[in-house]
Amino acid sequence: MSDETKVDNPGKEKQAKSASTSGSAVLPGAQSEKTPPAPGPAQLAPRSGPDPKLGAMPLKRAHILVLGNEKGGSGKTTTAMHLITGLLHQGYRVGSMDLDGRQRSLTRYVENRQVWMDQNSVTLPMPAHTVIARSELDTVTEREADERARFEFELAKRLQACDVVLLDCPGTDTFLSRLGHACADTLLTPMNDSFVDFDLLGRVDPENYDILGPSVYSEMVWDARKRRAISDGGTIDWIVMRNRLSTLDAKNKRRIEYVVESLSQRIGFRTAKGFGERVIFREMFPSGLTLLDLKEKGVGAQMSMSHVAARAEVRQLMEVLALPLGEPAHVI
Ligand SMILES: Nc1ncnc2c1ncn2[C@@H]1O[C@H](COP(=O)(O)OP(=O)(O)OP(=O)(O)O)[C@@H](O)[C@H]1O
Ligand SMILES: [Mg+2]
Repeated sequence: MSDETKVDNPGKEKQAKSASTSGSAVLPGAQSEKTPPAPGPAQLAPRSGPDPKLGAMPLKRAHILVLGNEKGGSGKTTTAMHLITGLLHQGYRVGSMDLDGRQRSLTRYVENRQVWMDQNSVTLPMPAHTVIARSELDTVTEREADERARFEFELAKRLQACDVVLLDCPGTDTFLSRLGHACADTLLTPMNDSFVDFDLLGRVDPENYDILGPSVYSEMVWDARKRRAISDGGTIDWIVMRNRLSTLDAKNKRRIEYVVESLSQRIGFRTAKGFGERVIFREMFPSGLTLLDLKEKGVGAQMSMSHVAARAEVRQLMEVLALPLGEPAHVI
């Protein structure tokens, strides 16, 4: 199997290739420090402004949306799949990077989508996708330098060729995950509606559910925000989203809501209600489809009430995210 899977439509690939020659900026900073520095000014150029090479032509880089949480299985890849298809159907040029080179779930999803389209002679919009495989070089320094170089190269291509780039992080603290967090414009953290998941964000008093302090993942995001501010003055809009919401267990739900809201005020993130526990969010993975594809010509699936409710949840999430993308450049 190759180190890198790229599934893309030909038009975008052409754009991405031409962009790569001018956009492979190198991020500054020591290779082996634990938290990598945020990307430098050449990489994270202003979202709009003069392009020195093109005179009056505006240079607009893509918005970077990172799906991150050190807790495994919280819904990062599922949310990424739905946001990617949602944004594609809105007409945006979407880049995606799978930073979980071991599981490669997002990559598998995109591959499945391509296979399904080929087998059914249906054309659906596709992201400009790649996976950054883990380095197998000998030393930590060499591995980090290798991963950083491939990450920067692929990101730079997509920053110029796309409107938005989604980075799907692994559910563990890896160098690639920290690189991804360091360049987020928007960070979306899905968490299962459980105190086990919340424990990575904050510690709570078991008696009255008051917040005792931030936990390991919140501290990592805090660090990424600081570094980003120092590096290019940029900010990270952090949104925590509760996932797999149950219709049962109302007491647990209220308590989680309370602690998430309390922590959000304390450390500064926004909250989103997220997705309910629904089979539709996982059952179409083998075909690479999501419920947002169901109305497309050739897909031919029936919409149930549960599908309609799930679509509304995805749309609500997109509204809360409020990504500053402007009008899509082309309509699909
Ligand atoms: N809203 C939902 N309803 C039903 N199932 C869901 C929902 N969200 C996620 N799942 C399921 O939960 C499991 C974990 O989801 P997913 O793989 O997206 O999490 P992850 O955060 O990407 O995991 P990892 O940290 O391992 O990368 C999967 O089986 C997925 O299908
Ligand atoms: Mg995942």
